[in-house]
Amino acid sequence: MRFSTACVVCTAAVIGQATAQTFQRLGACPTLGCIFPPDQSDFLPGQWFDIRLETHAPQNGSEVVPGYTLPDEKFTFTIAKDGQQKDCHNAASFFKVAEPAIERWNFTWYEDLFAQAAKTPSLVKVAAKAYRKVALYEPGNYIATLTYANGSVTQANWTVRDTKMMEKAKNVILFIGDGMTTNMVTAARLIAHQSVNGKYQTRMAMDKFPVLGHQMTHSIDSFITDSANSATALYTGHKSSVNALGVYADSSPDPLDDPKIQSIAELFHEVRGGAIGIVSTAFIADATPGALTAHTRARGQYGNVVDSFLNGITNYTWPSWSGPDVLFGGGAEQFIPSSKSFKGKDYYQEFRNKGYNVVLNNTALQAAPTTERTLGIFSVSNMAKWLDRNVYKKNLNISKTDPAGSNGTATDQPGLKEMTIKAIDILHKRSPDKGFFLMSEAASIDKMMHVLDYDRALGELLELDDTIKATLQHLADIGELHETLIVTTADHGHGFDVTGGVDTKYMDAQSGDRKKRDAVGTYEQSGLSQYMVANRSAPIGSDQNLVYSAGVDFPVNWDPRYTLQSGLATFPDHRENYRVHKNGPRIPALNVTGFSSNNYYVNYIDAVTGFLVNGTLPVSADQGVHSLTDVPVFAQGPCQAAFGGVYNNVDIFYNIATCLRLQRTKPSH
Ligand SMILES: *[C@@H]1O[C@H](CO)[C@@H](O)[C@H](O)[C@H]1NC(C)=O
Ligand SMILES: *[C@@H]1O[C@H](CO)[C@@H](O)[C@H](O)[C@H]1NC(C)=O
Ligand SMILES: *[C@@H]1O[C@H](CO)[C@@H](O)[C@H](O)[C@H]1NC(C)=O
Ligand SMILES: *[C@@H]1O[C@H](CO)[C@@H](O)[C@H](O)[C@H]1NC(C)=O
Ligand SMILES: *[C@@H]1O[C@H](CO)[C@@H](O)[C@H](O)[C@H]1NC(C)=O
Ligand SMILES: *[C@@H]1O[C@H](CO)[C@@H](O)[C@H](O)[C@H]1NC(C)=O
Ligand SMILES: *[C@@H]1O[C@H](CO)[C@@H](O)[C@H](O)[C@H]1NC(C)=O
Ligand SMILES: *[C@@H]1O[C@H](CO)[C@@H](O)[C@H](O)[C@H]1NC(C)=O
Ligand SMILES: *[C@@H]1O[C@H](CO)[C@@H](O)[C@H](O)[C@H]1NC(C)=O
Ligand SMILES: *[C@@H]1O[C@H](CO)[C@@H](O)[C@H](O)[C@H]1NC(C)=O
Ligand SMILES: *[C@@H]1O[C@H](CO)[C@@H](O)[C@H](O)[C@H]1NC(C)=O
Ligand SMILES: [Zn+2]
Repeated sequence: MRFSTACVVCTAAVIGQATAQTFQRLGACPTLGCIFPPDQSDFLPGQWFDIRLETHAPQNGSEVVPGYTLPDEKFTFTIAKDGQQKDCHNAASFFKVAEPAIERWNFTWYEDLFAQAAKTPSLVKVAAKAYRKVALYEPGNYIATLTYANGSVTQANWTVRDTKMMEKAKNVILFIGDGMTTNMVTAARLIAHQSVNGKYQTRMAMDKFPVLGHQMTHSIDSFITDSANSATALYTGHKSSVNALGVYADSSPDPLDDPKIQSIAELFHEVRGGAIGIVSTAFIADATPGALTAHTRARGQYGNVVDSFLNGITNYTWPSWSGPDVLFGGGAEQFIPSSKSFKGKDYYQEFRNKGYNVVLNNTALQAAPTTERTLGIFSVSNMAKWLDRNVYKKNLNISKTDPAGSNGTATDQPGLKEMTIKAIDILHKRSPDKGFFLMSEAASIDKMMHVLDYDRALGELLELDDTIKATLQHLADIGELHETLIVTTADHGHGFDVTGGVDTKYMDAQSGDRKKRDAVGTYEQSGLSQYMVANRSAPIGSDQNLVYSAGVDFPVNWDPRYTLQSGLATFPDHRENYRVHKNGPRIPALNVTGFSSNNYYVNYIDAVTGFLVNGTLPVSADQGVHSLTDVPVFAQGPCQAAFGGVYNNVDIFYNIATCLRLQRTKPSH
């Protein structure tokens, strides 16, 4: 059906122009008419998505429009190819779907910190519609127009990418160092690789990738991103909002009804029918693994995320989802039947019922047949860190970490390398012809940076690098290296850097915060890395010049007298002595009995030999936060050239999807 007048709007009225910043009425919707996907969205041809339209009628606060008290329910929504706006169509007829019913709800929001302190939220009434499971096939720009409230207009200019790529990959491995920045790679190289007169004698595996790019991680409504919306960008090609997994965040109270976008895993399964692997050192319901199948505006819907791995989207299924071939990580609490598992069910049993082999420790993982779909859950919560598994092993003795749910400990945990190599074997065995997509995440680079535990974070980064090295070798051994695109990147950064060296012996001998700071050496007094120890009995310059204990390309000594002065750009109150934390991951700040529970103070039993650093973050922060920086992208294999340069995080999705030929140029139904 054709719309005669509503299509071409020349002088459109706009009601509502929010100026909110700290808080927004609704991200990516500054006016009172909202379109999701919003203006500037990109699409892979044939990628399934939902459209959410909302009209807002503010009831009080600064945005009230006199006379507009009920949100317009008779809005129109049209779509046209850019340049052909006269030939525009009502969206339902354009997409050949039924006109959706009107939905209604209210929500409140704070306009600024004063309103929050006074607890006076602004109330908004909403009328909305959702067009579910639609797709655009023909490349080009499309103008979506929402006309509401007597001629107010919101437009979105959407781009369906013209996807052309000479090369084609059979397999893709996406390594994500969560929170990993170039500064962290530089620091990891410094502590794990020997340097002679300023020249490294060995390099990181990432350093050897032929193509390097930078991705910009900003989200649609904030310049600092979290792992949920950055994972959404990497996996769907659509930037989203903080906490959102595979959806745009709408204003409705239901966290599961938000407009969804088909992910790379769902596309690969539907279009190529290949095998999918998801590996993480985090609890497996966490954002980076979860965003491959989950579609919710609330990343904390952990039980739901785990159910989505197995069953696809709650109440709503993209075509033919049947679960990943490999799912390895921590997070047993969402599998053991309890209030933390979805509907209280036993998810080990749910996976077994669908034919999965379930393994709960590294011994069983290594012995598992490569022919079976495999679920491996190796601990409650996040998995143990490399530094604790390899150097300070007594820290593994934490009760109630047993993934089987006993009160015991998870002592036999695999590392990222063991999980990743086994995943490749299973994926390759199960999908020798159609290929595989594997996401392998070093999650605790981020988790340890958050708690200012730089040694553990760099240990995780070096484990990722060791995993990449082993993966390249393994792919060569099984004859898949040249058909596999390998992309190593991060989802966002932290404001980490190293600014000098620290003489911990001198620091220990001083008293007083100001004197202790004299132990820091900058510029020429920073010296050289003491984490690699020269083997003095070997001839100078020989390969035997190093003593390796934990294995090649890891530090020999994590507790040298001369350490690194590492730090974050912003932080809670904490103490620094720049020494490795031998008793387990660091706790920089604590809430204290007798004070408000979200009021964090320095942890006085942390880094006792050091000095106090007063925080710069709000006192409600008990740890560090993400930062603005672009993050590196290392690429090797088919289509590698597409990853050079500076681009948006969503471009990684389009490059991978195109290299895998996942675009669909006409409806398949
Ligand atoms: C919205 O708020 C109004 C009060 O302003 C109330 O009467 C109405 O029931 C609410 N509607 C919903 C759907 O919550
Ligand atoms: C708006 O109305 C709600 C509900 O009546 C009330 O709680 C809130 O304080 C009001 N906000 C403002 C900014 O007046
Ligand atoms: C639209 O215009 C009509 C007629 O002028 C008026 O009665 C109605 O309140 C207006 N509606 C909105 C949402 O502004
Ligand atoms: C839509 O976006 C494209 C690409 O940015 C641009 O060339 C085009 O002019 C835009 N169209 C409109 C109507 O804004
Ligand atoms: C899914 O279905 C359940 C029960 O059938 C219901 O409680 C829930 O609200 C539904 N969720 C969505 C997003 O429709
Ligand atoms: C590992 O799991 C197997 C069962 O899959 C079990 O028999 C074995 O005892 C476990 N080993 C450890 C160290 O927990
Ligand atoms: C583990 O810790 C418990 C106390 O929590 C202790 O009794 C036990 O001896 C420890 N085991 C090992 C192997 O260190
Ligand atoms: C774990 O220990 C608690 C007491 O701390 C006990 O009540 C519970 O029965 C134990 N659970 C198992 C599975 O042994
Ligand atoms: C140190 O170097 C000597 C001479 O090359 C060699 O025999 C010895 O094994 C090395 N020590 C270690 C711990 O690698
Ligand atoms: C600290 O905060 C946590 C999480 O909010 C809370 O469970 C705990 O009771 C608080 N502790 C104190 C001492 O306030
Ligand atoms: C930290 O801040 C407190 C006040 O909150 C002040 O008394 C103290 O001197 C500060 N310490 C340093 C090292 O800046
Ligand atoms: Zn983080």
